[in-house]
Amino acid sequence: MKKIQGLAAVALATALLVGCTIQGGHETKVEALLARMTLAEKLGQLQQLVPSGGNITGPDGGVLDTEELIRAGLCGSILSEQDQEKLLHYQKIAVDSTRLGIPLIFGYDFIHGARTTFPENLALSCSWNPELVERTAAVAAQEAAAFGYHWTFSPMCDVAIDPRWGRVSEGSGEDPWLSGQLSAAMVRGYQGKDLSSPETILACVKHFAAYGAAEAGRDYNTVDMSELMFRDRHLPSYKAAIDAGALSVMSSFNDFMGVPASGNKWLLTDLLRDELGFNGFVVSDYNAVTEMCAHGVAADWKDAAGKALNAGLNMDMVDGAFVIHGEQLVKEGIVSEKTIDRLCREVLLVKQELGLFDDPFQYGSKDKWENDVYRPESIQTAREAARESMVLLKNEGVLPFKGTERIALIGPAGASKSYTTGAWSGMAEPEKAVSFLEGLQERFGSVRYEQGSSDFEAIEGGIQRAQKLARQSDVVLMALGLPSDYGGEAASLASIDIPEAQRELFDAVAATGKPIVLLLSTGRPMTIAEETERSAALLVTWHAGIQAGNALADILSGDFNPTGRLTITFPYSLGQVPIHYNHKVTGRPNPGPQATGRYFSRYMDVPNEPLFTFGEGLSYTTFAYSEIEIPEPEIRMGEDVKVRVKVTNTGSVAGTETVQLYLHDLVASTTRPVRELKGFERVTLSPGESRTVEFTITPELRSFCRADMSTGEEPGDFEVFAGHDSRAALSTRFTVR
Ligand code: BGC
Repeated sequence: MKKIQGLAAVALATALLVGCTIQGGHETKVEALLARMTLAEKLGQLQQLVPSGGNITGPDGGVLDTEELIRAGLCGSILSEQDQEKLLHYQKIAVDSTRLGIPLIFGYDFIHGARTTFPENLALSCSWNPELVERTAAVAAQEAAAFGYHWTFSPMCDVAIDPRWGRVSEGSGEDPWLSGQLSAAMVRGYQGKDLSSPETILACVKHFAAYGAAEAGRDYNTVDMSELMFRDRHLPSYKAAIDAGALSVMSSFNDFMGVPASGNKWLLTDLLRDELGFNGFVVSDYNAVTEMCAHGVAADWKDAAGKALNAGLNMDMVDGAFVIHGEQLVKEGIVSEKTIDRLCREVLLVKQELGLFDDPFQYGSKDKWENDVYRPESIQTAREAARESMVLLKNEGVLPFKGTERIALIGPAGASKSYTTGAWSGMAEPEKAVSFLEGLQERFGSVRYEQGSSDFEAIEGGIQRAQKLARQSDVVLMALGLPSDYGGEAASLASIDIPEAQRELFDAVAATGKPIVLLLSTGRPMTIAEETERSAALLVTWHAGIQAGNALADILSGDFNPTGRLTITFPYSLGQVPIHYNHKVTGRPNPGPQATGRYFSRYMDVPNEPLFTFGEGLSYTTFAYSEIEIPEPEIRMGEDVKVRVKVTNTGSVAGTETVQLYLHDLVASTTRPVRELKGFERVTLSPGESRTVEFTITPELRSFCRADMSTGEEPGDFEVFAGHDSRAALSTRFTVR
């Protein structure tokens, strides 16, 4: 601490000298510190290391001795240490035993919660509820900070349309604008209003950029797309999170226009800093700097480090190339010391914003971690999040239960707690989760359970026992899907069918003739056309977090009227992939199934339409739309246009509808999507009640990327659709002059 005080004195003296007081004097303090640092120490701030025993999330756990480097002032950040005492120990070394006492910043993947786990992010996005998403992030931040962490690697803003890619579970779906809204909410939740508070942490916008477009859905694979496509479909989500104030960004593993992101100056400097105005720091993904050698654009680690530093990458995650080769690169004039100064300054400024220079030990403590997680309000948020995430996609009148049914629960996800946690839940305690079975037994009393099969294998006698139980029941809940570790990183799949052993179980139970409610536990869309057809109801439960069972009971009992709406398309068959609602029109659009003739953009063997589309989701009531109007249908460029639509609850119970607004630009200088989501509002209505919802379409919402790569609006006619999902039929037009 003495060193920190000494540092403050130097900062004050420098402040008086140069008279700079921007951000409470943060820049000045950092300048004073920089002036005292050796080149090696500056490079040290640019190095993040994973200690042995940490949560290793890549193929190589690092080559350097973490403790030794911290002591030498050659490490700026630690990744994924799971032992709280060690974390504290490292910070003590950094603060008390190094020449300048610069605190470390600790980062970990708190992706959808820490101890209190929430549904995976894709699931959470199906709530279409930014306020709720923000609250979940705030809980994650509070718990992460209670452990001692300052930084989470979230939100993942990658827009993805390929369910073969396991990481679709970590994003907010296929729509760039919605993904941006929800990612921004996460940033607000993590960082709060005051980043230096011991209950808020630094957010990290990842994976910059376009990582979600890996070819063939294979993780780490090449990304190749036009800049126009990138600017229209991918950039808006990252931009929204950066605009929300995120102070760190992670460069992605993939190449982008032929250059791996971590060495891509256009991405990390021209676009991120100069165009988007980002002023935090950029960390590479795990070993992504030296992976430039495997990509074949760097001859060796030194070459890779030079390329990354010159591209504008501030921090090297894990591999150690910056501390190993940085000094030599400067000596040889490949990287200038001015560049290192700038990169180091950006890291130190964020440490300053986090309050680390004021009190490096304020974040976590044993006591906080033991007693200040699982707050009752956090558990309540987890329950709200879980039930708002689940999406009801079919219901032939079996739901909600009346309470008199004899209920059977069958399938590997039924009693499992590990199915609740989802991918990236390293700090979760699965045993604390409420399984489906527990939640249902608590609510309905005698729910009987039979596993029937394991995730991927038949179990002896399982099918016979499941059939017997089904015959003794009035309704069968079949809890099927993919386990948590079949989503997330390095979890690409070439088949997204329900695993064969589970399908055999389904067939056998369906053969009893009992009505089936299919509960699908998954982190990605799956091909379930046949199972849907043969089920009386379908509820996508996802991997729903610590309150999964209670949330399910809330929905099945009717205590909670489902509100979830899909944010990603469920294909009818894998051959349709990639399939998404906001595709472009083409020169030969599909005229529909009735049209004969061959030369249209359509399949010969399956429909173009997916099984379930973006925005889709049922509740226990129905809604009708009418009276769409645009009070002033002719506006000038730069003006807003208002759209009103009336929505009525036409059913017999109260419910919440997510009113969705889509836009189609009829003639533009570049081809536009058939529809794009440009607004949504959740309205709760009693039976028979109506409400008129008003949307504002700003010039920004009408803007798109033109052929010269500039973004802006154009005059012309637009069609607006309002309704329940992306197929909304009610429409009207307006003109921009
Ligand atoms: C993942 C990142 C993650 C990082 C740190 C990488 O393998 O791609 O999303 O934040 O590991 O664990």
